[in-house]
Amino acid sequence: LDILLDSPDNNVSEYIFEKIGVDLHRRPEHPLGILKSAILEYFDSAYGKGSFRMFDDLHPIVSTHENFDSVLVPQDHVSRSKNDTYYVTEDTVLRCHTSAHQLSLLKQGEKKFLVTGDVYRRDTIDATHFPVFHQMEGVRVFTKCELSSTELAPQDFVSQELKSMLEGLAKHLFGEVELRWVDAYFPFTDPSYELEIFFNGEWLEVLGCGVMQKQILNGASLVDEEAWAFGLGLERLAMVLFDIPDIRLFWTNDERFSKQFKAGMFRSGGHNMQKFKSYSKYPPCYKDVSFWLPNVSKFTENDLCEIVRSTAGNLVEEVKLIDEFHNPKTNQVSNCYRITYRSMDRSLTD
Ligand code: PHE
Repeated sequence: LDILLDSPDNNVSEYIFEKIGVDLHRRPEHPLGILKSAILEYFDSAYGKGSFRMFDDLHPIVSTHENFDSVLVPQDHVSRSKNDTYYVTEDTVLRCHTSAHQLSLLKQGEKKFLVTGDVYRRDTIDATHFPVFHQMEGVRVFTKCELSSTELAPQDFVSQELKSMLEGLAKHLFGEVELRWVDAYFPFTDPSYELEIFFNGEWLEVLGCGVMQKQILNGASLVDEEAWAFGLGLERLAMVLFDIPDIRLFWTNDERFSKQFKAGMFRSGGHNMQKFKSYSKYPPCYKDVSFWLPNVSKFTENDLCEIVRSTAGNLVEEVKLIDEFHNPKTNQVSNCYRITYRSMDRSLTD
């Protein structure tokens, strides 16, 4: 660990490093583990038990090749920047998506699989964003024979199967819920879509998906085949499914949280399923901090949030720019940020 942390390219704080191996998604009693099982249950019933193989222990430190190149992310894409991604060394990162494992699993000959794991993204701070979260990836390869059983063009057939499968999944999880498909862009799929569900008065993006680029399949020696892939954020879905108001709660050890979740508590369609009962929120505590930016500014909000997170840990709820001042004489800019602190399990003193 020390050797890795000492690499000149490293931008991973200890706070983030400590999250590796916690594996919330592998705890059967944790909402993320419960959701993982609920999704697997859907695949078992839709395709036959065990036909999708689940990988949930692939290590989150991957090469830049796996994270970016193997899924055709362009050289100049923002997600490659050190502002957005945690670099361990020059050519290893904390995976920013489970798509990092697509190619190697296809190369191993896997044709129907799910990958669940922790993913890491440098970001700003609020109640729905945390630098570590969990994704589930799904891939299904269609053989030449399966593709020839239809009149449709192969891509249309695959798109259709993908969409109806995911609509079935949404129904399994949420029951009758309003859905919409939105065209999207991902370097590794074409066409690409996002699925949104209508929840609490707003449209919520819950997953990305599409028909896998031929180039990726060819890289795994699949020439006559087609495939779909999707990636969904487990926290997003779990917050909706169980009514969990703050993303930091997934990390709490407070029994008032953990005692409310049991393996096997999931009920298809949400029928009679126990929701999370919020214990009273503790009061927030605000602190404003302002500072001058250097003239040639390399400052980014993600960098600031990384410092705040490293210092304040889970106590920080939001970091928000509330004022910006430009001094015309010196041509300097100062920023004022409001940091909102709130503990999930106790009252904070000033
Ligand atoms: N990897 C994408 C993301 O993290 C999701 C995705 C997976 C999209 C597979 C398409 C296919 O946003």
